[in-house]
Amino acid sequence: MADATGNTTQDGAQAAAEPTRRDFIHIASIAMTGVGAAMVAWPFIDQWNPALDTQALATINVDLSTIQEGSVARRLWRGKPIFISHLSAAKVAELRALPYQDLRDPQSFDARVTDANGQVTNPQFLIMSANCTHLGCVPLADAGEYPGGYFCPCHGSHYDAAGRIMRGPAPLNLPVIPHTYTTPTIVRIG
Ligand code: FES
Repeated sequence: MADATGNTTQDGAQAAAEPTRRDFIHIASIAMTGVGAAMVAWPFIDQWNPALDTQALATINVDLSTIQEGSVARRLWRGKPIFISHLSAAKVAELRALPYQDLRDPQSFDARVTDANGQVTNPQFLIMSANCTHLGCVPLADAGEYPGGYFCPCHGSHYDAAGRIMRGPAPLNLPVIPHTYTTPTIVRIG
């Protein structure tokens, strides 16, 4: 239908559609600007991620066959000391039999040797932090009032051979470090 100037109502509809196209171009240009900004910013953001060599240090592999039964090895993991204790089968049986429900930080022996997959793969090896849970000193291995246990001389905390707090001011057991077995004797820590 023609109006007084001779234009049709269809022309009017086309005119009304014009802002919609402009909106689309506007939104698209904003989106492209956002993508461009993200591409420029990514190298700067990425440099805050840990370097590959740092990530490698986040896990260490330990060959447990080099640790003699009855001994405690010391390793550094993420800059902190850890204990890896190789218990005898008799010691494992003794520690398993100990009632733990009334301990300050109740934890069964099996919970102390459970790996990151929730498996007790190798109960003769205990992998735990070597920082006392009181104020962080490094306890002495095979010392204190509990046979094969740990003693922190800083303020007198005694842990049993499974690293569970038995006496003294430390509030918690020596934390178990997350680990997984890649072979029966190679363990990945971290
Ligand atoms: S830091 Fe170990 S008892 Fe205080």
